[in-house]
Amino acid sequence: MSYSKLSQNYISFFINILGNENVIYNQDIKKYSSDHTEDLVYSPEIVLFPRTTKQVSEIVSYCNKNLIPITPSAALTGLSGGALPVFGGVSLSTKKMNKLLEINTKNFQATVEPGLINEDFQNELEGYDLFYPPDPASKGSCTIGGNIALNAGGPRAVKYGVTSNYILNLEVVLPNGNIIWTGANTLKNATGYNLTQLITGSEGTLAVITKAVIRLLPLPKFNVLMLVPFIKINDACKVVSEIFFKGIVPSCLELMEKEGLDLIKKNNICEVPFDINEEAYLLIELDGNNNDQLIKNAENLNEIFDNYNCGKVLFAESSGEKNKLWKVRRNIAIAVKSFSVYKEEDTVVPRDKLPQLMSGVKSIGKKYNFKSICYGHVGDGNLHVNILKENLSEFDWNVVLKKSIREIFELCVQLGGTISGEHGIGLVQKEFIDIPFPKEMINLQKKIKKIFDPNNIMNPGKIFPD
Ligand code: LAC
Ligand code: ZN
Repeated sequence: MSYSKLSQNYISFFINILGNENVIYNQDIKKYSSDHTEDLVYSPEIVLFPRTTKQVSEIVSYCNKNLIPITPSAALTGLSGGALPVFGGVSLSTKKMNKLLEINTKNFQATVEPGLINEDFQNELEGYDLFYPPDPASKGSCTIGGNIALNAGGPRAVKYGVTSNYILNLEVVLPNGNIIWTGANTLKNATGYNLTQLITGSEGTLAVITKAVIRLLPLPKFNVLMLVPFIKINDACKVVSEIFFKGIVPSCLELMEKEGLDLIKKNNICEVPFDINEEAYLLIELDGNNNDQLIKNAENLNEIFDNYNCGKVLFAESSGEKNKLWKVRRNIAIAVKSFSVYKEEDTVVPRDKLPQLMSGVKSIGKKYNFKSICYGHVGDGNLHVNILKENLSEFDWNVVLKKSIREIFELCVQLGGTISGEHGIGLVQKEFIDIPFPKEMINLQKKIKKIFDPNNIMNPGKIFPD
């Protein structure tokens, strides 16, 4: 497929629809050429900021007719290169479509535009005692549309599930420019194929999301946060499954490896309000409406930890202390990035297989001579493996390392897991898609893509090898 290049005609057409202030094609375009994935740079030819579904539809239908590739984008906080325009063309930013259109307190639902920032949404809902659980580490800047496109997770997924568990209905613009709603504003829906769930997690390759109807929960009143140090990282992994045997489902169950914490401290990224002496730390949150019960549950958990060589458990006493601990956890990726070029693998396995995954990752690292810093959402078996470039030669980094990543992913699949839990396949993992999917599965999905997007204009070059 050969795409059209930007021309004065195209520019005039887009300016005519959107106005000068919503079209960028000069040197400012640099800001829109990277996301949070490694050190990748792919420049769009033009960035467009529509404000209405009608404008999106006009843009998309024009691009379809003229064979201009479109890459939907918003906050550009993705970690798999999904919003990078690998073929140039249009970066279609939904950043200015950021309204919270409705909070329906009777039905516990909200209708939002895709550019709404996750944390702004959560804060607004709190005023109504309502709760939208998915909370990616970048919640202060990532958008609900991006979260839907990637089926984002975050720490609370262990108890509350991921984005797709909250999406009831989507307004989308199809690659031919037509506008559809994918479902209904109901909690149940057994009507035909579930296109809402198909679009959710499709990484902007099937349609542009322009509105979402979201299911909400009542806001839990209390939470307890504890930090548990483990002398051995494998003990921290082993204890995870046992926590659930006690009949307790934490609202967050996160692992942080010592080296990640050391980097935060060394680079003064934020305050680390504890001594970093042990190999790994679990950050565990319990939430609910009965505070006494939460404290009892926390005490029950303490009994288990004793059997796994843990150090002194730290309880956060105030919301200030809780915030400090969460800040540490949310800043690990930033700390690693500031230290070395790195590749982040978003491995996921059934949580009882976590100890095998962790020891497998470390022994593959020894075999290929790379260092990894691991952290992540171990309560749902989702381990972020950060591989550091440090002093590796370009050849080792670009060629040899691929073999080792392949081994890590093969291990995930052998253990019953897969190659991405929440960051998506996007650009950087597509060469590994043959590991979880046999040919038949890849072909079936490519055919679905073709039905939606016969001209391959919608985020081309993602998820599947060409
Ligand atoms: C996190 C991001 C990287 O969990 O997913 O910090
Ligand atoms: Zn994560």
